[in-house]
Amino acid sequence: MKLSQRVELAEGRPIAAPAATASAVDLAEPAPAAAGLLSTPAAPAALASDALSGLKQRAAEALFERMGARFGDSGATEEELRAAARDELTHVIDGERVPLSGPERSRLLREIEDDVLGYGPLQRLLDDDDVTEIMVNRHDQIYIERKGRLQLSGLRFSSEAQLRTVIERIVSRVGRRIDESSPLVDARLADGSRVNAVIPPLAVGGSSLTIRKFGKVPLTVRDLIGFGTLTLEMAELLQACVKAKLNIIVSGGTGTGKTTLLNVLSAFIPDNERIVTIEDAVELQIQQEHVVRLESRPPNTEGKGEVTIRDLVRNSLRMRPDRIVVGEVRSGESLDMLQAMNTGHDGSLSTVHSNSPRDAIARLETLVLMAGMDLPLRAIREQIASAVNLIVQISRLRDGTRRITHITEVQGMEGDVVTLQDAFVFDYGAGVDANGRFLGSAVATGVRPRFLERFEDLGIHVRPGIFQTPASAHQEHPWKQ
Ligand SMILES: Nc1ncnc2c1ncn2[C@@H]1O[C@H](COP(=O)(O)OP(=O)(O)O)[C@@H](O)[C@H]1O
Ligand SMILES: [Mg+2]
Repeated sequence: MKLSQRVELAEGRPIAAPAATASAVDLAEPAPAAAGLLSTPAAPAALASDALSGLKQRAAEALFERMGARFGDSGATEEELRAAARDELTHVIDGERVPLSGPERSRLLREIEDDVLGYGPLQRLLDDDDVTEIMVNRHDQIYIERKGRLQLSGLRFSSEAQLRTVIERIVSRVGRRIDESSPLVDARLADGSRVNAVIPPLAVGGSSLTIRKFGKVPLTVRDLIGFGTLTLEMAELLQACVKAKLNIIVSGGTGTGKTTLLNVLSAFIPDNERIVTIEDAVELQIQQEHVVRLESRPPNTEGKGEVTIRDLVRNSLRMRPDRIVVGEVRSGESLDMLQAMNTGHDGSLSTVHSNSPRDAIARLETLVLMAGMDLPLRAIREQIASAVNLIVQISRLRDGTRRITHITEVQGMEGDVVTLQDAFVFDYGAGVDANGRFLGSAVATGVRPRFLERFEDLGIHVRPGIFQTPASAHQEHPWKQ
């Protein structure tokens, strides 16, 4: 029997029982082309020689013989299983008396472990730092984004059953379940990578899996200046705004870079302040020491135990935070966040999904209504106008670049309307270069924001030149590349 079939047998059922042989016959039917995890098209790291792949196959088979039942043993932790498998494998390999160099030996062990205990063909992609997204359309089609380019990976699962096993392994680790009654699941890998899985019947062509890998090295303000997302002047202004404890909302569409910008803004928080972060799935990489990170939790399989962002925002108020950073407001928690901002928790930061500063206000209104408090619209607007000091709009432009298009002050109310005043807006008038890339950046409107008075009280200085148009682009500065 092929190892791949054994893998399916051992893992396809909740508990690997000795009765495996019955279904082995069906699975041993004509193997689909290139079936078998171990025969996935060779990745660069795969063992080269036939002798070694033969050994690998035999070792994996022997491992199954010895450990079969234990793989289904939910009592054993991941580490215990791995350690036991490593022990067994070492015996098997020693028994074969094949001379192996040190590196060959460890590579062999690792590949077998990936297939048996890890995420099969995905493991290599997860371990490869150049790969930022993994998109499994079907068991035999895996696309990846590598260095910003979409490409077919050449790797595949041996079957739908193996893909399902891996999906189940991922979601069960975060205490969730995927089956016909709940065929859509969001989960997170231990390293923070975000996973979405959809299985049939919703995914018509077979199970589908999308993984957005966690960027290990977060983008910094230097990177963003280098990408043209913002100018040095804007960065200086934003740094001063964070230091001065303005309440700031980053507004933008999906994938425009809101979370990344929030992370960059958080880096401006002085080291001596206590930060509480609240997210659906931990993404922020706060550099400061004094941080408590909270993550919401979906209901468990019995529909119990849910802890919402709203619960966490409320709880955070009892944690003596200097700063509350909410990854994204999507619902009723916006009311609690605005209340926190209005009751002495200045300098809070968050993001909202909207397409312009004006739209961000409208969106916040809608989200506050979702709290179900039946507040009059005017009261909501007053709450927003007094809580939020600054809206930073980030957009993905037609040329694919992500730019800050507005830095906008929320000044207050005039009649029933929240008054906004742009301090910086994107200069589309600068045109595009030969490749269609926008040449402009956001430029000062020349209007000095009112919060500058607050800066003076706090002894925070910004260069007067920041508000000059056009911005002085040629100065030396440590952020500049
Ligand atoms: N300013 C930027 N320039 C280029 N790429 C960026 C920028 N900001 C974020 N990215 C990349 O874009 C993707 C989405 O960013 P993210 O901050 O998660 O967006 P959002 O929170 O708006 O969905 C990530 O892969 C990130 O590395
Ligand atoms: Mg985000």
